[in-house]
Amino acid sequence: MTMLHGFPQPAQWKGKDLPRILSRLFQVEGGNKLDVARKHGAYETIGPMLFDKSQLELIEIVKDSGLRGRGGAGFPTGMKWSFVPRNTGKPVYLVINADEGEPGTFKDRLCMTRDPHLLIEGMIISGYALGVRTAYIYVRGEMLPQIGHLNDAIKEAYDAGLLGENIGGSQYSLDIYVHRGAGAYICGEETALINSLEGFKGQPRLKPPFPAVSGAFAAPTVVNNVETIMAIPYILKHGAKGYRQWGTDKSPGSKLFSISGDIKMPGVYEVPLGMSYMEFFDLCGGLKGELLGCIPGGSSAPVLNAEETKKATLDYESLAAFKSMLGSGAITPFNTETDVPKFLQSIARFYAHESCGQCTPCREGTGYVDRMLDNVVDGQGHDGDIDTIIDLAESYEWTTICAFAPGAAWPVLSFTKKYREHFQAYIDKNPQKTHPRDLVTQRSGAFW
Ligand SMILES: Cc1cc2nc3c(=O)[nH]c(=O)nc-3n(C[C@H](O)[C@H](O)[C@H](O)COP(=O)(O)O)c2cc1C
Ligand code: SF4
Repeated sequence: MTMLHGFPQPAQWKGKDLPRILSRLFQVEGGNKLDVARKHGAYETIGPMLFDKSQLELIEIVKDSGLRGRGGAGFPTGMKWSFVPRNTGKPVYLVINADEGEPGTFKDRLCMTRDPHLLIEGMIISGYALGVRTAYIYVRGEMLPQIGHLNDAIKEAYDAGLLGENIGGSQYSLDIYVHRGAGAYICGEETALINSLEGFKGQPRLKPPFPAVSGAFAAPTVVNNVETIMAIPYILKHGAKGYRQWGTDKSPGSKLFSISGDIKMPGVYEVPLGMSYMEFFDLCGGLKGELLGCIPGGSSAPVLNAEETKKATLDYESLAAFKSMLGSGAITPFNTETDVPKFLQSIARFYAHESCGQCTPCREGTGYVDRMLDNVVDGQGHDGDIDTIIDLAESYEWTTICAFAPGAAWPVLSFTKKYREHFQAYIDKNPQKTHPRDLVTQRSGAFW
């Protein structure tokens, strides 16, 4: 199956062309090169449009746009920027989170391949608004082609006077460094990322203090996702109102979604927030087979069953109402042919492998769940195992340093609760499914 990035033209929704805020150059040959990107409007904001505004004015524009972080949590970007203390005598750092390790998520790597200049332009604007002199792009270690594209684009930008001293003849100067991680999922968590950037082990820090107050090198640091920063040039050019022509009141704008699973045209697509999941599936060529459920926002997001998927829309509020989340925007619909326990087994294996090991409930709990699911799928499960798996996941859901553990618990809890009969069917295959403990209880009536 060929992976598509962007809908075959023309793609419309409700009689209107779909937005091209982030994906404008995705289908343009050579769009990652400065000369081609400039022909399509790249860096038009780097001049009076930017430098005639004050830092506070820019932060207000981003606040008014309602832009929310696209890394997973959906935190309002302008508000995060406004937390940065001013005049502390310390530098302010901007760190772009390009770690992208959530299973099913593959949008940021496409952005860096097809349009690295939009990210650089967004970083210049954001850096100016925040008073940043040095910025980093922290890229997942395996993404070698993307690292190459970024370094090429950064060099082009330096050569064109768009980076370095006195950008575009202004008083503003910015240096950007690409930092290569070593491919650990936990290094996408912002404080683990900062530890790794500083050369320490990539393990999360306790919060507070939040990075905006004390982050990289103990200085105020804004960590933002690649896609978040790529929306900034459009917001500056078209204003908060222009951005708000898309999306809903509380989830304005557009978003990139990476869709895989039982869908006819998997790939990365930009759509306005607020579209229904079913409309989105139609735009992506339709589902393969009959819908059984959908992971709506990356592997950490609680699964939706078919009925919920048919009602849900692509925005933060709708998913919250279903006790799930839009997360990183990775959508994985699956059909009635799916082996649900094996599906969950592969997700649980990932989390057990990626736990950083600092917190006992997360380190031990994810491993236990992984081994118990292996037993179930291997036909060696026992009656009572599903409840034990749920108990275990609940034990690490809210008892740890970082949000990895709840993100590891939610797929386990939602899959076992919504598709319990699929797990029980595996257990029923075990001729010795009655647990020795239950045998003792049945035989003697004793409490064991
Ligand atoms: C376990 C874990 C992994 C994460 N991985 C990523 C990631 O790969 N990319 C990302 O942008 N944010 C990731 N995040 C979220 C970041 O901690 C942070 O919230 C985000 O980079 C902030 O950017 P935003 O406000 O633009 O979304 C992760 C969070 C957790 C708990
Ligand atoms: S919750 Fe898990 S990943 Fe996060 S700090 Fe604790 S052990 Fe590490």
